[in-house]
Amino acid sequence: MKKLLMAPVWLVQIFTQTKSFTRNPILGSTLLNRLGLHVARIVLAHSIMRLRMLILSRGVSKQHRQSYFSNGYILIPDFLTTRAFAELKQEIHLANAEVRECTQGDTLTHRIMLDENSLPTMPQAQRFLQSLELRKLLKFASGVNGQPVSYVQTIKNHFVEGPPDPQKNLHSDTFHPTMKSWYFVDDVDERNGPFTYVPGSQQLTFARLRWEYRRSIEISEDGDRYSGNGSLRLSSEDAKEMGLPPARGFKVPANTLVIANTHGFHCRGNASERSTRTELWTISRSNPFNPFPGIDHPWLTNLQNKALHAYREYCDRKAIKRGTVSSWHVIEARNTIGQQEIIPDTDEQSRQLLHEAS
Ligand SMILES: [Fe+2]
Repeated sequence: MKKLLMAPVWLVQIFTQTKSFTRNPILGSTLLNRLGLHVARIVLAHSIMRLRMLILSRGVSKQHRQSYFSNGYILIPDFLTTRAFAELKQEIHLANAEVRECTQGDTLTHRIMLDENSLPTMPQAQRFLQSLELRKLLKFASGVNGQPVSYVQTIKNHFVEGPPDPQKNLHSDTFHPTMKSWYFVDDVDERNGPFTYVPGSQQLTFARLRWEYRRSIEISEDGDRYSGNGSLRLSSEDAKEMGLPPARGFKVPANTLVIANTHGFHCRGNASERSTRTELWTISRSNPFNPFPGIDHPWLTNLQNKALHAYREYCDRKAIKRGTVSSWHVIEARNTIGQQEIIPDTDEQSRQLLHEAS
């Protein structure tokens, strides 16, 4: 009965960004994937997204367009003036806003959402997000004529006991082009885990399509947790099969902007020590089958942020009923960003620091 009721939903989801092989039995059908369903979705989604990117490419330099299409990323050092960077960094360290935390393996990630609640007290961050150059680049890279969801994000490597962080395995976020950006507030090197990307791996080559076809059948039959979710993992054998170059770790100084198409293979780089990395981070993921890039209006940006906020609160309530906390739960500390220099020795000290920071 449930299957009968859900069938129309699963059918409609074929033409959305839904990516899970395990939660949608149509997308996870071995027979349909043998017939080429997964590959057909990829080809159609990439064609439409390329059209949207081209529509939004006005005002983006040829060099940046070429880099995004061929390498899968845009890298801009010294994005802000020295003074603007210093002011922004100071503002981030003094920010007093709600912090949500997620634990993945032995990594903690802290995020402050940049929305109508936090931005009025963060004028430098607001100026950064509203800069014409950034807006043009992000619109082009995402294929969306609108604002991405934006955060101050701190990655805290080796801050908790746990297995290795699953985000440190090379993977593709989803089957279609999707954009993330990092404006690094800290210098990034092997100590705090550079963002890592396989150059050119976002391209739909014949080898990639052949690999996607094979993986879609394998995952439909018996996939691992993350690949079954639609984020396909990349092994060294896979990389060799597709003829991909070695991954590049972005060891870059602070004040560098990186924009990447995370359909390409990427991961958080390994961090050699207990360390943090803070960045202004944005994400844009839209329906790749919709040929219209959308309408840029502050009202729609607010609506998008409010919907996400409401979803997080819904997850909080559900988790409380189960006697636990949601995967992205609010922590007591209002600002955990300025702790880079303070390295607690134990988890107990870490908890104390979080309390002191509140
Ligand atoms: Fe990812």
